[in-house]
Amino acid sequence: MRNDNEVGVLFVCLGNICRSPTSEGVFRHCVEHSDLEIQINIDSAGTADYHTGQPPDARAIAAAGKRGIDLKGLRARRVNRLDFEKFDYIIAMDDHNYYDLERLAPPDYRGKLCLFLDFADNWPAREVPDPYYGGAQGFERALDMITDASLGLLNDIRSKYAS
Ligand code: 4NP
Repeated sequence: MRNDNEVGVLFVCLGNICRSPTSEGVFRHCVEHSDLEIQINIDSAGTADYHTGQPPDARAIAAAGKRGIDLKGLRARRVNRLDFEKFDYIIAMDDHNYYDLERLAPPDYRGKLCLFLDFADNWPAREVPDPYYGGAQGFERALDMITDASLGLLNDIRSKYAS
């Protein structure tokens, strides 16, 4: 299903319309602007299927757009069993997502699960808070966290996969 020159990264939140599509867009932007020469397959999904088939939340699209990142083409989907096999990094935004993934993941694949902010240098927090029920400021803060964690994730991949 995957070859050794490829790394798969799946970002996971609850609805797949705010934090994880934002992470997908930001991380893809970081990879495209890096000198890393390995193929990174990037995707996002939600633990719930409330928004399957929908584009990201308009506030997430607007906040990312101001930073030059286009999320409009993304569509929400629920995480599925094949994802655990296909992706090398399965990255939860918060403890609740992590717990849900732990329940869904076949035991052999649980070692792929991690929290996104574990890769962040400048945010001592564990979780990217859910901005869905708040205002625009929450989306800006989530973007700041996600940008920092994306740079750390890129370094982690570089240290493990780049020759
Ligand atoms: P996300 O945010 O998990 O970052 O996509 C949410 C989106 C929708 C809902 C909750 C969180 N919802 O309850 O519909």
